[in-house]
Amino acid sequence: MIALIVDGRRYDVDVPADKPLLWVLREDLAIVGPKFGCGIAVCGACTVHVDGDAVRSCSVPVGEVAGRAVTTIEGLGRDQLHAVQRAWIEEQVPQCGYCQPGFIMAAVALLKDKPQPTDRDIDEALTNICRCGTYSAIRRAVHRAAAIMGGAS
Ligand code: FES
Ligand code: FES
Repeated sequence: MIALIVDGRRYDVDVPADKPLLWVLREDLAIVGPKFGCGIAVCGACTVHVDGDAVRSCSVPVGEVAGRAVTTIEGLGRDQLHAVQRAWIEEQVPQCGYCQPGFIMAAVALLKDKPQPTDRDIDEALTNICRCGTYSAIRRAVHRAAAIMGGAS
């Protein structure tokens, strides 16, 4: 058994320690907000936080996160929408939406480290892939979120 803490809840899962975290979330815990895109840590659709840092959960063995705090898009705004989620809505970022949970989780981690990121910071930190091409809207939304978090709203 592996003890997991996901979105503030404790789970004991009977899975191999090398099973990717993404598949434990989706198959064993029915937390399907994190998406499968590439499976090789390239696209970022599966991004979640482990102890506040963004990780690509398709490429993290679940055994590595035992006892650590995993946060998914489903837990991020459970009580009230996170500022990044509000900014995403205000900028109407998503098109098909598939990649967006990963982008949002990556943006939250970026803003924790850099509260006022430049466009370059955003481009360097958010290396996720969006087949719908929402990149410019994502930049605007990250700046808006930074303003919200800085007390401008
Ligand atoms: S599915 Fe994990 S990075 Fe693409
Ligand atoms: S909004 Fe469609 S893949 Fe990004």
